[in-house]
Amino acid sequence: MPQITFWGHSCFLLSENGKETILLDPFISENPLSPVNVEEVKADYILLSHAHWDHLGDAYDLAGKNGATIISTSEIAKQAIKDGFKAHAQHLGGRHKFPFGSVKLTLALHGSGIAGGHACGFVVDYYGKKIYFAGDTGLFSDMKLIGELDSLDVALLPIGDNFTMGLDDAVIAASFMQAKVVIPYHYNTWPLIEADPKEFKTKVEDKTGSYCIILDPGSSYSF
Ligand code: NI
Ligand code: MN
Repeated sequence: MPQITFWGHSCFLLSENGKETILLDPFISENPLSPVNVEEVKADYILLSHAHWDHLGDAYDLAGKNGATIISTSEIAKQAIKDGFKAHAQHLGGRHKFPFGSVKLTLALHGSGIAGGHACGFVVDYYGKKIYFAGDTGLFSDMKLIGELDSLDVALLPIGDNFTMGLDDAVIAASFMQAKVVIPYHYNTWPLIEADPKEFKTKVEDKTGSYCIILDPGSSYSF
């Protein structure tokens, strides 16, 4: 069974016994919530939603050590290639097949952290399961379309406010995505993005058809 492991902030690992692993926004060594040391982390692919420091994180270090492929927008991927790493460039709306399944880049309303770029989210088909990772984003009504175009098993949504959607906007996002399961992130890393995941869970399960799972940093969900 595929597994999603949360390492705090926006960092998730997708894994399945003996298969290729994907790291999402590997902010580890400077992440106050991270339960792992970057030295012990292995990944085959690294998905970067944008290049802000709390998302780019240890991507270069890990790509170098693991020979992992960075998948991101063309601006970020091309910079990574220039800097000597393996990367695959895509852009908003585009899907590409990989040995584990596929990755589609979705709109995210946020800065890119790199000149000329755009932030993104991802719909990942990981060995037959579909996961939406919103990246850093505000709420936008086209999220409805993302939920309609791909039948999602899991939607990962930021809830910490200030830099991204707050809790109540994320509940609306959850209603748009219609995923079986919603998992919150980008909260309680610092006081500025404090949010109560239990309040989010109550509201999601009250107002949408999705079940909400709160992952403490270091814990996993199998699906
Ligand atoms: Ni950001
Ligand atoms: Mn962020």
